[in-house]
Amino acid sequence: MEEFHYEEGGLCCEEVPLSEIARGAGTPTYVYSHAALERAYRELDEAFAGLDHLVCYAVKANGNLAVLRALASFGAGADIVSSGELYRVMRAGFDPKKVVFAGVGKTEDELLAGLGERILLFNVESAPELERLDRLAARHGKRARVALRVNPDVDAETHEHITTGREQDKFGLSVDEALALAGRVEDFRCIDLIGVHQHIGSQITKLAPYVESVEKSAGLVEELQRRGFDIKYFNIGGGLGIRYKDEETPTPAGLVDAIWPALEATGTKILCEMGRYITGNAGALVTSVVYRKKSGDKSFIVADAGMNDLLRPSLYGAHHEILPVNENGSTAPADLVGPVCESGDYLARDRQLPDAAEDDLLAVMSAGAYGFSMASNYNSRRRPAEVLVRGDRWAVVRERENYADLIKGELVPAFL
Ligand code: LLP
Repeated sequence: MEEFHYEEGGLCCEEVPLSEIARGAGTPTYVYSHAALERAYRELDEAFAGLDHLVCYAVKANGNLAVLRALASFGAGADIVSSGELYRVMRAGFDPKKVVFAGVGKTEDELLAGLGERILLFNVESAPELERLDRLAARHGKRARVALRVNPDVDAETHEHITTGREQDKFGLSVDEALALAGRVEDFRCIDLIGVHQHIGSQITKLAPYVESVEKSAGLVEELQRRGFDIKYFNIGGGLGIRYKDEETPTPAGLVDAIWPALEATGTKILCEMGRYITGNAGALVTSVVYRKKSGDKSFIVADAGMNDLLRPSLYGAHHEILPVNENGSTAPADLVGPVCESGDYLARDRQLPDAAEDDLLAVMSAGAYGFSMASNYNSRRRPAEVLVRGDRWAVVRERENYADLIKGELVPAFL
């Protein structure tokens, strides 16, 4: 997070004081660092150097067009999970030959959209999906390049809501199901089975489950190759954790070292689809204090950002560091809460926090992934602005929503 640092007591993103951005763009506002995006992307890319590989960025983590454009310019591919994300990556200038499409519930329209753009790979998660993809491809005179998503039945040892590779999770096919489905591929007219995909969860901070799952899935790659399939791609998924507080997290190089033998043995092009690792620590949410209040023994800092802007603390009990935009050195035990009408609306709970007064600015750190992308209009709150910083330059890359945005598409019928 070195791109966010203090200069003369003021928190800056690269060379721009966050207070300047707050003055110009208002609050709450997400601020992203171009240098941090580039550093994280390059770290991943360099970790895989020596293997034929492609780092696909998981768009769900942060789909802002400018963020996507920056990543495309570094050479990244994209991992998408909806036709909406396909629309974004095409608008941002990604090469569709670098796009992989995952998800358990791809609809006909979504499969067609992917076929239309001739994307690199559909990560297929079930037999009915493969059947439907084949029918659509045949109907439209296309071929579909497919990776089977295997569920290696490994517990990623992360938060319950974001572990995806256990047998009881809805994702992917067991090794046996994948082999059985592959055995039917000859019956399909328009499917090229050329890949294996896995993704076992998110915010993974332990190497062991990652290694175990990659080894299992690599076994499937090799078994399919033995059975005569030309498996050219092995997608190891995303999920590499980041430091929110004081977690010891594997580095990309540490991860790749640990799985290198398994990857190399497959002789395939290695894909990974990290989201959080690339954008997580590249962003902060800048919010300003509306009120201080006390209730019994509790002290509350009421901010102008709430759970609709950053859902992670409410949804997962996630920890985000809270930093004062202008340091005054004093802290106090408090909750940082938002204005939303739910007791679960907090950004930090029972913590030692900057002792901020009304109108002071606070930065909620590590908010670049699953921040804006999970924001909502709950309580008819306008979603925040987004800003991208590059060196001493900054630009609003998404305007704060206005009142008209809030009712866009709503209609009052004539019978009222
Ligand atoms: N690939 C697939 C198939 C995924 O489902 C995901 C994330 C990724 C890649 C990227 O994972 P990452 O590298 O970002 O960990 N909202 C939660 C995270 C949900 C992750 C869902 N899938 C959070 O805020 O922690």
